[in-house]
Amino acid sequence: MTQEVDIVIFGGMGDLSLRKLLPALYRSELEHRFSDNSRIFLTCQGDADRGRRQRQVEQGLKTYLLSGEFNEDLWTRFAERLHYVDLDINDLQAGWTQFAERLDQHRACVRLFYLAIPPSLFGVACKHLAETQLVTPESRVVVEKPLGYDGASANAINTEIAAFFPESSIYRIDHYLGKETVQNLLALRFSNSLFEHLWDSKTIAHVQITIAETVGVEARAGFYDKAGALRDMVQNHLLQLLCLVAMEPPHKLDAENIRDEKLKVLKALRPITGDQVTAFTVRGQYVAAEGPAGEHLPSYVDELGQGSTTETFVAIRAHIDNWRWAGVPFYLRTGKRMKERFAEIVVQFKPVSHAVYDSPLANSLEPNRLNIRLQPEEGIKLTLMTNKFNAEREGLKPVALNLNFAETFNYKAGDAYKRLLIDAIDGNPSLFIHRREVDRAWQWADPIAEAWARGYSPLHIYRAGSWGPRAADDLPAADGNRWFQALEHDGLSAI
Ligand code: BG6
Repeated sequence: MTQEVDIVIFGGMGDLSLRKLLPALYRSELEHRFSDNSRIFLTCQGDADRGRRQRQVEQGLKTYLLSGEFNEDLWTRFAERLHYVDLDINDLQAGWTQFAERLDQHRACVRLFYLAIPPSLFGVACKHLAETQLVTPESRVVVEKPLGYDGASANAINTEIAAFFPESSIYRIDHYLGKETVQNLLALRFSNSLFEHLWDSKTIAHVQITIAETVGVEARAGFYDKAGALRDMVQNHLLQLLCLVAMEPPHKLDAENIRDEKLKVLKALRPITGDQVTAFTVRGQYVAAEGPAGEHLPSYVDELGQGSTTETFVAIRAHIDNWRWAGVPFYLRTGKRMKERFAEIVVQFKPVSHAVYDSPLANSLEPNRLNIRLQPEEGIKLTLMTNKFNAEREGLKPVALNLNFAETFNYKAGDAYKRLLIDAIDGNPSLFIHRREVDRAWQWADPIAEAWARGYSPLHIYRAGSWGPRAADDLPAADGNRWFQALEHDGLSAI
């Protein structure tokens, strides 16, 4: 749908804007999502010289778009929408009045205020928007994670924003919810009767959710060292994925119902407190190692430039205390500088209830498994047992039914930010986080962070470029399970 919209990115020349938001808006331009008179304002402090800023944005797009995506004609069209605003967010006297005059030229259209700035500035930015009367009924504010450092600070930030915007106009982004396979997870669960009756503790043995990254902390070491993997990845991305796997079917796939069902899962998460962190969590930090091509991979401490006990890896054995999931462990794990970059949900089914085959065939039986791959290549794989063809003797073999989305739908990897920005412009908050979800997620994560701070759990080291600390294997091993690595690793053939 083509929309008339004014988009304002506070922190418009910052890393998030150049890396993610502007490429997403450029791709939306390609799809003719904006009407001719829609505008994009990028706020910056100091020099708002158009020529210089324009070159910076152009360079950013050339760097962060995929190869072949940048196109001169499209850039010319897109560049005309860009306006640069010299604005000191803190100071109402510095630029706000002129900015308000420019924005007020289009009063009727949708206004999207994207706060790509530190959370400490969210409150004052919203206050100044209200004081300059820029908040219209058609205005939305988009805020980025991390929303706070813990439950108390998140609550304070949410309260500040709520003083100027109603909850229905606040869009809290978690870009994992914009990934294509996350949509497909909903489609898989709620449009296939096949899974409807299998999706509970009677049939499912355990679930694993992994987000592994090969990058280190890059330019964000200052922020990251205060946050760590629990706050940066688990409290938001991993818990959101867990919610979508575990939630009850919503009455309708609309914002209210989806968010209500996710909230119920968060409420049912079993708390992990005090010395329980020893048995249910593992935290780690990477040390220097040699990469696969003989290159030097630095340690976290080297990248940071100082000593630190911040975790760059977390693994957790979680439980959801409700009727559907009683006794089913959910293993969560994420880390920087791991062996491969991938994000995947694995649903491990229980073994068949009675073996009709005699030994040794009975021994080759493996339970079914469903792999939902979010990245890098998006797909779904269902592993079934089959009889071996052309085998000298009869035998059973696990074989995968593989659905690769790129091949099946002939499309390039989706852009989660583009999808979410368009949803926010269209006024669809289904894939955004409600304030109550943020509160609940912190209520679960806070005691873990507190127990770690009190020294209940050692910091395990792992080699950069490995699968994380060895101690992480103990979590599934405690239930007789193991982590599955990347799709390729299990050597299954596709049919
Ligand atoms: C962000 C985290 O939310 O997600 C980063 O702050 C992390 O630390 C990133 O690298 C991972 O996102 P993706 O989409 O590249 O898996």
